[in-house]
Amino acid sequence: MKILVIGSGAREHAIVRALLRDTTAHQIVAAPGNAGIAEVVEVVSLNIEDGPLIANYAAEQGVELVIIGPEAPLVAGVADALRAVGVPVFGPDKAAARLEGSKDFAKEVMNAARVPNGRSISATTLREVETALDEFGSPYVVKADGLAAGKGVIVTSDRDAACDHAEFYIHHGPVLIEEFLDGQEVSLFVLSDGDAVVPLSPAQDYKRAFDNDEGPNTGGMGAYSPLPWLPEGFVDEIIETVAQPTIREMSRRGTPFVGLLYCGLILTHDGVRVIEFNARFGDPETQVVLERLDSSLADLLLATATGRLATVPEPVFSSDVALAVVLASEGYPESPETGKPILGLPDALEVPGVSIAHAATARDGDGFVSTGGRVLSVVARAGDFGDARRRAYLALDRIHLEGSHFRTDIAQRVVE
Ligand code: AMP
Ligand code: GLY
Repeated sequence: MKILVIGSGAREHAIVRALLRDTTAHQIVAAPGNAGIAEVVEVVSLNIEDGPLIANYAAEQGVELVIIGPEAPLVAGVADALRAVGVPVFGPDKAAARLEGSKDFAKEVMNAARVPNGRSISATTLREVETALDEFGSPYVVKADGLAAGKGVIVTSDRDAACDHAEFYIHHGPVLIEEFLDGQEVSLFVLSDGDAVVPLSPAQDYKRAFDNDEGPNTGGMGAYSPLPWLPEGFVDEIIETVAQPTIREMSRRGTPFVGLLYCGLILTHDGVRVIEFNARFGDPETQVVLERLDSSLADLLLATATGRLATVPEPVFSSDVALAVVLASEGYPESPETGKPILGLPDALEVPGVSIAHAATARDGDGFVSTGGRVLSVVARAGDFGDARRRAYLALDRIHLEGSHFRTDIAQRVVE
């Protein structure tokens, strides 16, 4: 199959790698891809938010499946443009991508579909913000309505910081004040062709920059899968109470959701609550979930894109575990330093079970330099989490990037 993968992160590198593992060979092109992806497949430079351009390219090149990785092209309507020219696309139309593009809209859908979520107030003035903050009390949770590259949410006990955050975003649209939810977080990816829903294996993401969940929120500093501590029947429960009602509600509105519904969940004492929906694969969770996928990713995503999800076999996952540790540049997330050489990658790759997904790297002679905040995901696979952790951190010891940092506690709670 001829497949176009859209995006340039470690997530897309992991998607490409999973496609290459298929027993049937595919012709894969990535746009724009990155330096790591360019090592394994062809990359083309295209403006990935330009729907007509992408649609033209895909139609001309005879692409049989487009996989859209990031949220921005989805929210910009790139999937709509592809569907309009008859190219199968994995990823929702603009109207359905609003589940990620607008937190206010996501709340509206969740409440209409009776999906359990935190109580929230949508505020359009600072006065309303302050009243809502005082109603819910500390810790305060303030969320920008639209896409904010992982920076839109603040969780803080500092009321002034909560107000400042709201003030920064309120000029762009409503701000959501939400009750604080306490508990373990779970990311569950659910495929849907607009009707059928099929879960992938659950993962946990580490959002805070530093060990012990300290420091600012980031795009994600690490992940692991599966989650051995989940109660039995958890995935079925989420399918029944979250995924199916949401997918039905989107169809009822005439905006069916086709692609991956990322359910961001918190397990509170009072039960599971949705904290966010995303309309795409998560990063870095994808690196660990797809590492364990034994089924053909291309078959699953094509079936999703073409309304045949109910007819393909359920995905099979390895009993191996996987963890990913993100290597971040000095100063990430606030102001990452870039342009630094990355040394030791070949030695790191010698560690058994280890692979590396590139996120923000560029070729520099024989080696690579950093070009952004989250530089690499070091992914380790093993029979248990103790071994996986040893492998990942041994590989990280062999990588040198001046000033860089990574969390040392990924999956630690499972081992303890
Ligand atoms: P979101 O972009 O909505 O996923 O929020 C980013 C992160 O903020 C989440 O992964 C949680 O760690 C945290 N968060 C979001 N909403 C809440 C909430 N209501 N209570 C506690 N933490 C939250
Ligand atoms: N790992 C969080 C996200 O992809 O949004």
